Amino acid sequence: FFRSLLKNNVCFRRKFASKTVAAKVQTTTTKKETKDETKSFSTLQEERREQAERSVLISCPPNISEMRFLKHVSRHGNIKNCFFYESFGIYAVVEFSEKDSIASLREATSIPSIQHETAVPFKTRLLSLKANNLNLSSSQPSVQCQKQTTIGVKELILKLSQEDSIDQQLYSLMEEYQLTEENICLRFLVCSLLKDIAAAYFPECIIRPFGSSVNGFGKLGCDLDMFLDLDAVSGRNLKQVGGGLSLEYQMKKMTSERAATQSILTVIGECVDQFGPGCVGVQKILNARCPLVRFAHQPSGFQCDLTANNRVAMKSSELLYVYGGLDGRVRALVFCLRCWARVHGLTSTIPGAWLTNFSLTVMVVFFLQRRSPAVLPTLDQLRDLAGPKDKSTIEGNDCSFVSDFSRIQDQTNTETLEHLLQEFFVFYGNFAFSQMSINIRKGVEQNKPESSPLHIQNPFEPALNVSKNVNATQLERLVTLCQESAWLLQQGGAGGRGLVRDTPWGLAALLQPSLSQSIKMKGRKRKAREPASERIKGLLDSLKSSKAAAGVAGDAA
Ligand code: CTP
Ligand code: MG
Repeated sequence: FFRSLLKNNVCFRRKFASKTVAAKVQTTTTKKETKDETKSFSTLQEERREQAERSVLISCPPNISEMRFLKHVSRHGNIKNCFFYESFGIYAVVEFSEKDSIASLREATSIPSIQHETAVPFKTRLLSLKANNLNLSSSQPSVQCQKQTTIGVKELILKLSQEDSIDQQLYSLMEEYQLTEENICLRFLVCSLLKDIAAAYFPECIIRPFGSSVNGFGKLGCDLDMFLDLDAVSGRNLKQVGGGLSLEYQMKKMTSERAATQSILTVIGECVDQFGPGCVGVQKILNARCPLVRFAHQPSGFQCDLTANNRVAMKSSELLYVYGGLDGRVRALVFCLRCWARVHGLTSTIPGAWLTNFSLTVMVVFFLQRRSPAVLPTLDQLRDLAGPKDKSTIEGNDCSFVSDFSRIQDQTNTETLEHLLQEFFVFYGNFAFSQMSINIRKGVEQNKPESSPLHIQNPFEPALNVSKNVNATQLERLVTLCQESAWLLQQGGAGGRGLVRDTPWGLAALLQPSLSQSIKMKGRKRKAREPASERIKGLLDSLKSSKAAAGVAGDAA
């Protein structure tokens, strides 16, 4: 019996291990192999959602033995996957082969009796395994925990300094930062647990993750954006049967969709707050452009944002997933630039006038569309490839684009990541932000329709500017950092590995906090001495002319 348990578990480990290897291979294989193998967004989301429905989250006693744990839980059914992680104690995610096993597990689970306190008897799939009188921490080795956080920037810089090329540094950063398979499973499980709470009101609802949890650009530790999907509630578009009569539910009516969303989020936020185990610090932010309920989910360690009626954001998550899956270089470049922006304070976890990761990612997509030949197709090109199932209109906007990767032709661009990174900095170090808007639908810059310092057209809501929040100071910082980074890369570019081992070079040098500090200092001096960044502009001009002399194709200028 033990052997079969172990075998099961070993199978599980192999499954994850092989995925890690696949992810590694992805960084070195050709574009074609990776692209056509990639599952469509909806297939992958559906698989993960169904997997989460068969899973439970169990808090474990310290030093629990893995074997004993599996033996106990597998009484209720075959375990397909199981992993452990730490978040104020040890937790296990257990995925059963069959959903029925959860019913059996629930039957055997008791309501806690606590002295001086009372438990609200709201049952969820978040459980605690109690050691009772048994010594679970026997002589068996304790469990191996899966990491849920990234290494710090200092450690990252050291690691990158040991790589042999800038391309390798970018891939190495991505592997260190990207969400692990286990972390993604946990994200879907948290959505599924919250769905059980929301189901108290809307039994047929679905809670779907969106944003960086699913768009392929998520970093370990990023927030969990979710939306409550009520479109799956049956009877919405029921065809009328003949006979001249039909039945309709009597329902409360609201003045607007926004008012309905606010009212739904009010009650669900209240339920999460009052009855949701592990949900703390619940804030209802209902007057935002997109009303939301924000809270921390302690057992997973995720900062959660729950919205409702947010289909456009889901579409933009899918679009980024498609762009990230088209070419192995895209994700590596985005991870690198998200990290670069974060260490230099261009992005922040606090809302404000900063650039957001979403805006920055759209800027990278646009830059890659502008290469010659292009690395990425425009959104209009992806729309033209859409099949009948891909057709989608949300609030009057056409949100159709192809979902099947094999229908998208490979691009012929073969530039190295190092070159693309360098060109990204030159491109935005020189971009006419004061007149032009960034538009990934057309893949060309267009005249700005309004006066925000940075204008990035929302791909699915053309009237909206994704980066409306960014002020002139933050844009200026972005431009200066791009110019300095272009210059720094050019100085120590290809083959510029530090002479002294472990000396930050290439990407590692770009992540040094001293870069933004030196800009602050120079900014002060420059204000006193010269208008605008004349010196850097001169440097960029010399870069451009040397590039032109070398006959390098590029349209960044
Ligand atoms: N979004 C949008 N327009 C904006 C901001 C956000 O459409 N101005 C949508 C995007 O689909 C984005 C999602 O909301 O992916 C979540 O926003 P946010 O959490 O800010 O960005 P993430 O992509 O999730 O990145 P992060 O890792 O910083 O959370
Ligand atoms: Mg997010």
